[in-house]
Amino acid sequence: MNIYDHIYRLALPYLLTRSNEIHIPISKGFAKTILLTEQGDPEVVIPAIILHDVGWSALTDEMQLQAFGAGVVDKDLNRMHEVEGVKIAERLLEEVNYNSQKALEIINIIDKHDSRLSAISDNDRIVKDADKLYRFTSEGLIFYLDWFEDVSFEERMAWLTSKVDSWFFTETAKTLALKELEERQA
Ligand SMILES: [Fe+2]
Repeated sequence: MNIYDHIYRLALPYLLTRSNEIHIPISKGFAKTILLTEQGDPEVVIPAIILHDVGWSALTDEMQLQAFGAGVVDKDLNRMHEVEGVKIAERLLEEVNYNSQKALEIINIIDKHDSRLSAISDNDRIVKDADKLYRFTSEGLIFYLDWFEDVSFEERMAWLTSKVDSWFFTETAKTLALKELEERQA
């Protein structure tokens, strides 16, 4: 089994919440696509995108609802998924004997993947972009509309459209986001 599949297999039990078993393969696909045209190290980017949300497994559905979304967000609860995610990711990377220097960079990316708005490296830029691109897919859109029933399709589309320029670091991701929006609208 290749190393990324091995990491994904170990991560899967921690991804069975908040539809992360759907989010992660989709964002991993985006990361691979972005890596074709943007500068980055797949050995950092791919494990980071696989593992970045494992910490949600430590929060109940109730806690998760307060910890993300376009409305009022409980920053402490959101931070909790980053802190718990670091602990789990460190353990899983050790379990597969991952290169320690790369593991350190992966952990640094996971540690503040939501709370830090800037990117610390080319690799972080790609992880952040691949993570957010999920929101523009049909799976990401439906997931959001199911969780936040008071938000309409039109409102969510307008919000996503308004975020393309400020959310994405790479031109490749911006292009992919606009393409997804076109498909959702169609
Ligand atoms: Fe994510």
